[in-house]
Amino acid sequence: MIPDNIIEEIKARNEISDVISTYVTLRKAGSNMNGLCPFHNEKTPSFTVFTATQSFYCFGCGAAGDAITFIRKIENLEYADAVRALAKRSGIEIPEDADRDRGVRRSRILEMNKEAARFFRSQLMTSGEAKAYFIKRGLTQRVLDRFGLGFAPRGFGLIDHLKKLGYTEEEMITAKLAGKGERGMFPFFRNRVMFPIIDTAGSVIAFGGRVMDNSLPKYLNTPDTPAFSKGRNLFALNYARNHCAEELILCEGYMDVIALHAAGFQNAVATLGTALTQEQARLMKRYTGKVIISYDGDRAGQNAADRASAILTEAGLEVRILRIKDAKDPDEYIKSFGPDAFKRLLKGSETKFDFILSNVLARHDVATSDGKIKAAAELCAEIAKVRSAVEQELYIEKTASVLGVEAASLKSDVKKQVRKRNAEQNSSFEKQMMNKALGIGDKINPDHSGNPRASAAEEAILGIMMLHPERVTDIVSGKIALTEEDFVTGFNRKVFIAVRKLFSEGGRDIGVLGSEFSQAEMGRIYEMQVKREGLESSSDTVFLDNINALKAASVAQETDIEKIIKAKLGQ
Ligand code: GTP
Ligand code: MN
Repeated sequence: MIPDNIIEEIKARNEISDVISTYVTLRKAGSNMNGLCPFHNEKTPSFTVFTATQSFYCFGCGAAGDAITFIRKIENLEYADAVRALAKRSGIEIPEDADRDRGVRRSRILEMNKEAARFFRSQLMTSGEAKAYFIKRGLTQRVLDRFGLGFAPRGFGLIDHLKKLGYTEEEMITAKLAGKGERGMFPFFRNRVMFPIIDTAGSVIAFGGRVMDNSLPKYLNTPDTPAFSKGRNLFALNYARNHCAEELILCEGYMDVIALHAAGFQNAVATLGTALTQEQARLMKRYTGKVIISYDGDRAGQNAADRASAILTEAGLEVRILRIKDAKDPDEYIKSFGPDAFKRLLKGSETKFDFILSNVLARHDVATSDGKIKAAAELCAEIAKVRSAVEQELYIEKTASVLGVEAASLKSDVKKQVRKRNAEQNSSFEKQMMNKALGIGDKINPDHSGNPRASAAEEAILGIMMLHPERVTDIVSGKIALTEEDFVTGFNRKVFIAVRKLFSEGGRDIGVLGSEFSQAEMGRIYEMQVKREGLESSSDTVFLDNINALKAASVAQETDIEKIIKAKLGQ
């Protein structure tokens, strides 16, 4: 836990508009600033930064919060990690002991993992079966050493070994090296060949374990621990980072990566048994500008490649997709055809558009005008999906020359498609916003839709409380009669309790509630505050009116406006 006073200090030294300017171009608008919202697609700026309260709010999508919430949302970080990022940005040191709880646990897990990796390696030496398995799969002693591969036997060897080294049962369970059942402790990995997962600092952060036969599950991976998050790391990046100035090769499997490295492609990495995440894409972006996706040749692999391609492009990486023919995966391909053949595959890897182009050309006879028209229509639809104007231009020219048609006419087709898609997007956005106004599908406060009036009054009350702490004093002293019992919706009740506690203990910054509420919940809390900003809502009467409205609105009643919107939505 990082103490509140340090968090306040960090916020004070990180002016919100400075923080946000790194990501969004902001322009002055009265006493505030605005720009294009980074959290939804828009053409006119509805994203507003309020300098007075050091908060932001998007009138388009409702995203809201303080500098910490912003960093959490845009960088996809946990609360404490976002606080640390801001501390670093402003040169503030978070005292060791503030971080100790997490720090000590993490370093203990890393030490323990290192010991476990050693143990698994020593077991590999003595286990004939595991060694034979790896040899059968073509791995040499050199490769086994390089990747630190090992073997987890049945039985309690690892647990006894770690106990002797002074680790407690609780620590082993936290590290997910052991579990505890009715009959006591048991090792997490049993009778599996082991692949340590090593981060770029060289620490063993987790393991993957594979069965040696056809039993299931084929792989078992360490679940997330205080030292490991599977969506934020990549297998073999510790090696690949030094060989990827040109490009990284992204695979699905550990065995693919090992086979590639053994064949001289030391720039191969793999995800850790889940689909590629945005964090992993950003991680790659730190080391390279280009990624070649080298997934399995089957349908599932190619679909996954398609999704990965979108995520990598979004992260600003140049992407190529490699198509494996006559083999299941890169590992088998290299075994069958050798490293040179794989090198040719790499050279021939296509952009996503080339990939689609060859598919379209295979399906239509472009020697006939009918085939030409159909192919052009399909390709224009694809080109319309591309965001970069330069890329669009390139693809239009390519299509024009392949089909032998005028680039200008293709261009106007593409424009039409873009307009059509924008219109579709806008109408679905509008629908979303109307649903939001009604609280339909409200995940944060599911009670909202059944109690629209009460919930609206609650939000007004909470917004005013956050902007005017003296109202909280009145509530605590009993001068204003309002308790959590008066709140109808669960989420708002929870916020009421938290705000009352914070302010009555002398806190002033609702940002610190971020350690208790999720990033999306914090957005909602700030939204309540921002909506009341600048309104004449501080007066006692508005506050009291809302309290009375809340007390009266124990039963949901539809307002006329709600009826109209509902009718429009056809509900
Ligand atoms: P081999 O079959 O040994 O060649 O392994 P592979 O590395 O080619 O694996 P495969 O293509 O079957 O799967 C790709 C990756 O998905 C693996 O490396 C694992 O990370 C993960 N994976 C596969 N099977 C499982 C499973 O049963 N459970 C989990 N959690 N992950 C799996
Ligand atoms: Mn395989």
